[in-house]
Amino acid sequence: MKILVINGPNINLIGIREPEIYGNKNYKDLCNLLQNKANEIGVQIEIFQSNHEGSIIDKIQEAYGVFDGIIINPAAFTHTSVAIADALTAVNIPYAEVHISDVFSREDFRKISYIRDKAVKTVFGKGFNGYTECLEYLVGELKC
Ligand code: DQA
Repeated sequence: MKILVINGPNINLIGIREPEIYGNKNYKDLCNLLQNKANEIGVQIEIFQSNHEGSIIDKIQEAYGVFDGIIINPAAFTHTSVAIADALTAVNIPYAEVHISDVFSREDFRKISYIRDKAVKTVFGKGFNGYTECLEYLVGELKC
């Protein structure tokens, strides 16, 4: 089983960026946590990050026929990108939506998500653990 993890703009700056919201750990720590969890449950993962909407769309399209599931934190594109939502629908790969922060307790525009309605799961406000929760959930669902 192969799972693709996609992170959108500025997620590479966690640890530096608004630590009171995103915590003190950095992007490498997130990647290590995910890789360790993947090893523990015996699934292959690839982790991708981009600050560019088109690159994220290209990556989603390339996942067709290659990956069984996607975990995605589109970051700010969550609230703006019909194109990312369309790409996820087009490839028809089950996906989980994750946010490090509690998007519902922040500005109103963060409550909007163009990808939520078709996600198999959405986790927010649980920090890095949201990613491992999504990974375990997605793998569980795909095994059924
Ligand atoms: C985020 C929440 C978004 O509103 C924000 O633009 C991000 C990160 C999160 O992980 O909490 O960049 O997706």
